[in-house]
Amino acid sequence: MIQLFHVTKKYAAATPALSDVSLHIEKGEFVFLTGPSGAGKTTLLRLLFRDEIPSAGQVLVRNENIATMPRRRVPGLRRQIGVVFQDFKLLPRKTVFENVAYATQVIGMPPREQRARTYQVIEMLGLNHRLHNYPEQLSGGEQQRVAIARALVNRPLILLADEPTGNLDPDLALEIMTLFKQINSHGTTVLIATHDREMIRRMQRRVIALENGMLVAGGDTMAELPAGGRA
Ligand SMILES: Nc1ncnc2c1ncn2[C@@H]1O[C@H](COP(=O)(O)OP(=O)(O)OP(=O)(O)O)[C@@H](O)[C@H]1O
Ligand SMILES: [Mg+2]
Repeated sequence: MIQLFHVTKKYAAATPALSDVSLHIEKGEFVFLTGPSGAGKTTLLRLLFRDEIPSAGQVLVRNENIATMPRRRVPGLRRQIGVVFQDFKLLPRKTVFENVAYATQVIGMPPREQRARTYQVIEMLGLNHRLHNYPEQLSGGEQQRVAIARALVNRPLILLADEPTGNLDPDLALEIMTLFKQINSHGTTVLIATHDREMIRRMQRRVIALENGMLVAGGDTMAELPAGGRA
């Protein structure tokens, strides 16, 4: 589903954000991406939906090289990928309902289905009582759940989440992880960037670790997991 071959990503700075990273994530996997601040986690996620392109190497999503993909195919790629950003990126002048429904509008979903899917996912995330509130009227955890609802509403093949539990109390964080697990059990490939070691320990899934832009563990599918290491 996701393959990186010797991927290097340089921004302006001399040291690259990612250096020679190779990894493979299979369809249906649930994987954590971890590493200290600045290790390159967000950069790696951004490469996957072509928010950035690699400076060297190849990024393949569903066997398609995202760097050489023609521009007209990019919306199609993004339709398959739900993204929960580190800073949520909610639209401040839209309500909860509108923020989530907007994601269905931009892909041209028929209006009746837009409404049905939006209500469904908002209910799933326990946000019914917040439908007509604006982001600034919500708590951090509620905003996070709106961001997750928006990422899920189009039923993506791949879910990318950048520190999705960063602002949540432990109970809510666990609830969100349970939800991700549920989504994963329906076949969505899930990749979560997080610092949260306790969460990683609890979940018992594959962990890809980055340090200073280099892959230090977990690049191969399942191969490095100890026996019985997968819940
Ligand atoms: N748009 C950008 N322009 C220039 N440098 C960037 C950009 N984005 C990230 N970097 C740099 O690339 C490196 C990796 O950053 P990245 O955001 O991928 O790390 P991270 O692992 O997500 O960190 P955090 O845990 O703090 O979110 C850092 O040194 C950062 O300063
Ligand atoms: Mg980051």
